[in-house]
Amino acid sequence: MERSVPRLLVSQNGHEIDSARLWAEQRRPELLDLFAEQVYGRQPVQRPEGMTFTASLPDAACFDGKAVRKTIAIAFTGEHGGEGRIRLTLYVPAEADGIQQGRRYPAFLLFDHGRLSAEANELHATSSFWPVEQIVACGYATAMIAAEDIDPDEHDGFRNGVHGLFDAIDRPRASDAWGTIAAWAWGLSRAMDYLETDPAIDPARVAVIGHSRGGKTALWAGALDERFAMVVSNESGCTGAAISRGKAGERIHQINTVFPHWFSENYKRYNNREDELPVDQHMLLALIAPRLLYVSSAAEDEWADPASEYLSLQLAEPAYRLYGADGLASEPFPQLDSPLHAARCGYHIRAGRHDLTEVDWTYVLAFAKQRL
Ligand code: GCU
Repeated sequence: MERSVPRLLVSQNGHEIDSARLWAEQRRPELLDLFAEQVYGRQPVQRPEGMTFTASLPDAACFDGKAVRKTIAIAFTGEHGGEGRIRLTLYVPAEADGIQQGRRYPAFLLFDHGRLSAEANELHATSSFWPVEQIVACGYATAMIAAEDIDPDEHDGFRNGVHGLFDAIDRPRASDAWGTIAAWAWGLSRAMDYLETDPAIDPARVAVIGHSRGGKTALWAGALDERFAMVVSNESGCTGAAISRGKAGERIHQINTVFPHWFSENYKRYNNREDELPVDQHMLLALIAPRLLYVSSAAEDEWADPASEYLSLQLAEPAYRLYGADGLASEPFPQLDSPLHAARCGYHIRAGRHDLTEVDWTYVLAFAKQRL
């Protein structure tokens, strides 16, 4: 289906963007700014001064000694007092005698929104949402942080979570102030701050992954924070990977009504007015270029709209081409469970319902192999 979307490689003042340099210096910053202002809202703080990492004693006995688990508390103080704490659970591949000294592993950082528990526990071993044993067996470390530690997923007028810690208290909330998705993305960057310091992790090879609202979060985190070498959106749908114009399933007015806290106040202007948005979601995907990008869908997930997710990935290809990488623009929509893996971009549509499963992980890990 043909859809008319804003032009990726034409700057707001009408100039053609025809080189990686122009993309990186002009178009990318201007698109990031548009997404921050009109869609997700601006993060008022980056890494808080005085943020600390406190690691617990590693637990070496996971999966018959194949992994070592560490838990880390990322702690910070708010602008006007108040304390924040994000718990990070990390599994690192191990030999029989523990983590190999000096070896640095690539890692998958998962954003959880209530499927797991922020508290490290044995359930991680059996979850298909986060199949730690499978990931570790492929040679990757894997970490997880949870939404509840950053900003609880409820509309409380932005009082709890990091909004309460960092938002200005002396003036009314701005129409481009950060929503909950932007707050969660901020949390992923703080997790990356920690991973950069862990001697077992290769910070140049960290992938960020999320499912559904977590997929929207992973994409915005990956767009903002170029330390993420790979970004995976699983079934992120509306205001995630999917093109908004002409989308089936969930539309902007619906997401803004049911989840009024997810995005900036400005985004509500586009309820039933997708065509007035200065951006569309292929531009969000393009902000990941030239880094690795993986989008996945599920056949029965009409709410997210697989066709619009795939189209978005195809329309992001011109940004990759500026860096000499082909995308999937010439590939027809794939068969179920037949992943398409180009040099820097991958896609699959799995049979079944809205979920992140071991099958999704299998395809994602196969893409990451040799690339990440
Ligand atoms: C709702 C919401 C979606 C979201 C999903 C999820 O269905 O409408 O936008 O992706 O929840 O996070 O599971």
